[in-house]
Amino acid sequence: MSKKRNNPQATIEPFIADRWSPRAFAADRPVEGDKLIACFEAARWAPSCFGDEPWRFIVCDRVRDPATWQQLLDCLTPRNREWACNAPVLMMVCAATLFRNGKPNRWGQYDTGQAAVSLCLQAGVLGLATHQMGGFDGDAVRKAFSIPDEFTPMAALALGYQADPDILDEGFRETETAERRRQPMEEAFFFGRWAGSD
Ligand SMILES: Cc1cc2nc3c(=O)[nH]c(=O)nc-3n(C[C@H](O)[C@H](O)[C@H](O)COP(=O)(O)O)c2cc1C
Repeated sequence: MSKKRNNPQATIEPFIADRWSPRAFAADRPVEGDKLIACFEAARWAPSCFGDEPWRFIVCDRVRDPATWQQLLDCLTPRNREWACNAPVLMMVCAATLFRNGKPNRWGQYDTGQAAVSLCLQAGVLGLATHQMGGFDGDAVRKAFSIPDEFTPMAALALGYQADPDILDEGFRETETAERRRQPMEEAFFFGRWAGSD
């Protein structure tokens, strides 16, 4: 289900324009194995500083392993849990703080975000929906999944098929059906100099 955007300023490819973050997931529609693998493949081919590939994805599929799926769900904030409980796949996206040669990697989080959005875009092309979440307990997730110190849990990611917004409570339903909004292009893209610096 695509969604109206408030101020498109150019025509772009539908697979980019139509990606958004719904909360209504179909609990009874698992994600097919081949589609899941295609999503991982898209993330694999993201660019990264020195080609270090600093991303790691912990994948919890309710069909394959309900216990780990529940463990990750339990790490989410209560408000996120309310809707993410319907997503058949939950992931934890982690970023390396060090390059493989042991030196600090200050681009690890940047690169990991690129891998995550590649996954989200591929999911959209396959008819799936994604919703990333910063609302989770980092200490709990580190402990539950034995995440090493040199990796930072960055975001949880819900993946699945979209459902009717009617399954949501009133507050979420309103957001689900509202127009998507972005700041004007001029506020984020500066030709030649930082805007307002002259
Ligand atoms: C790193 C990150 C953290 C986010 N955290 C949450 C969250 O905890 N809960 C939530 O419902 N949405 C969360 N979102 C979704 C954003 O609110 C959403 O992407 C943003 O409003 C833009 O909407 P769109 O993705 O539909 O274009 C997060 C998104 C990102 C990328």
